[in-house]
Amino acid sequence: MRIAVTGTPGVGKTTLSRLAAQHYGWERADVRELAQAHSLVVAYDEADEADVVDVEALAAVLAAERASDHVEVLDGHLSHLLPVDVVWVVRCDPRVLEGRLRERGYSEAKVRENLEAEAVDLVLQEAQGAGVPVVQRDSTRRSPEELLSAFVDAEGKPRNTTDLEPVDWSDWLLE
Ligand SMILES: Nc1ncnc2c1ncn2[C@@H]1O[C@H](COP(=O)(O)OP(=O)(O)O)[C@@H](O)[C@H]1O
Ligand SMILES: [Mg+2]
Repeated sequence: MRIAVTGTPGVGKTTLSRLAAQHYGWERADVRELAQAHSLVVAYDEADEADVVDVEALAAVLAAERASDHVEVLDGHLSHLLPVDVVWVVRCDPRVLEGRLRERGYSEAKVRENLEAEAVDLVLQEAQGAGVPVVQRDSTRRSPEELLSAFVDAEGKPRNTTDLEPVDWSDWLLE
């Protein structure tokens, strides 16, 4: 089973996916590193302050790889655009996310853009277009361990049926 761990930058994807790999022995790959390994980082977007990945080409590479019986986690905010069996969307209250993005040295514009994306469910909406089950969980008041527990079932198997924990940060947009 291949799982996309996606969400707005800073929500805790890498923390969660590393913990999952450590705790359950699942494989983990970082989408940006995968893209680099296949020479599919094709540009740097100055306005976006981010690497541009050829997502379609990376999707083709991954689709060609044999579907496996082990669990593989793809960590990255583009992972829901890749061939996966389920998408896990990690969410975080913009009021908490703001400090994390500022700590990363993001520009004011990039901080704002990401917080708005989080508040309006942008990644969730994209993920729902992927045509596979989507599981959403709010990381805001959960430790990484609690968050991981919320993404697996009682037997420790990765959740792979649609289950969206509601979040609503529309009030943040009006502040
Ligand atoms: N569940 C959590 N609770 C509190 N802080 C967290 C949690 N998950 C991640 N963090 C912190 O938030 C920051 C961003 O986490 P990271 O995993 O790098 O996010 P992402 O990979 O989504 O960009 C890090 O400083 C990390 O330690
Ligand atoms: Mg990360």
